[in-house]
Amino acid sequence: MPPDATTSTPAKIETPSSLNVSVLQTSERDYDSLFERVAWVYVFCREHLFRDDTKRIITALWPEGRPGPGTQLIELGCGPGFYSCRLAERFPDMLITGVDRSESQLRWARERAGALGLNNCRFRRINALELSYSDAEFDIVLASRLFTILPEQNRGIAEMYRVLKPRGRCFIAEPRYAFRASIPLFAMWLLAGLNRSQNGYREPYKATVFSRRAFENLFPTQPWKNIRIWQEGRYQYALCEKG
Ligand SMILES: C[S@@+](CC[C@H](N)C(=O)[O-])C[C@H]1O[C@@H](n2cnc3c(N)ncnc32)[C@H](O)[C@@H]1O
Repeated sequence: MPPDATTSTPAKIETPSSLNVSVLQTSERDYDSLFERVAWVYVFCREHLFRDDTKRIITALWPEGRPGPGTQLIELGCGPGFYSCRLAERFPDMLITGVDRSESQLRWARERAGALGLNNCRFRRINALELSYSDAEFDIVLASRLFTILPEQNRGIAEMYRVLKPRGRCFIAEPRYAFRASIPLFAMWLLAGLNRSQNGYREPYKATVFSRRAFENLFPTQPWKNIRIWQEGRYQYALCEKG
């Protein structure tokens, strides 16, 4: 298994908002990730194969119809920025930060945001397992299809909890069926091989999917005030509220 570039010492930079945000260093080791090497394969799958949960996210998070002005949302493992851009487009008053460890995915995300003329949406290269944000910075945390490839899931949940404000909420969407969820990984492995890239990517061949019980057990590792879990066809969802 190659070393995980996301655990390397982060560099501190000044952002325009004067926040100290630690950002992963770009290095050759980025190519240890399939999401970096054959980014376009995942972008294609995201656009054309996966379920679009935008409406479901909105209904679950804001049953009254829309977020309050200035709502701060962070999307972890945002990939090519599909949901961050959809939500930023729909709710111009909301401030959205998409984070991912793959610079190539973030490039697609920034291009998408630019093409849509969005100025309430930014993308940062940050490890979801070690978020360089203070406690209680965000109203909403969103993660879609992240836990299928995230190795330390409990640590991911702990980070989500930490950066949420009191009464903040997180929405998580995960696939339920391993074969279907593994298709993008399989395609990426295949194409990375055909590209004659080095072997040894950090992603597994097969996506991790949670049984209903395992998915339910993921969340009580933090003291959420409310946890709601449900299944709809090929996906399972969690909506958690911090006390
Ligand atoms: C399966 S994709 C999901 C992308 C997007 N959320 C979606 O719904 O299509 C998983 C993403 O998580 C990113 N990722 C994996 N581990 C990460 C980590 N530790 N920190 C940040 N991003 C990570 C990958 O680079 C990839 O873009």
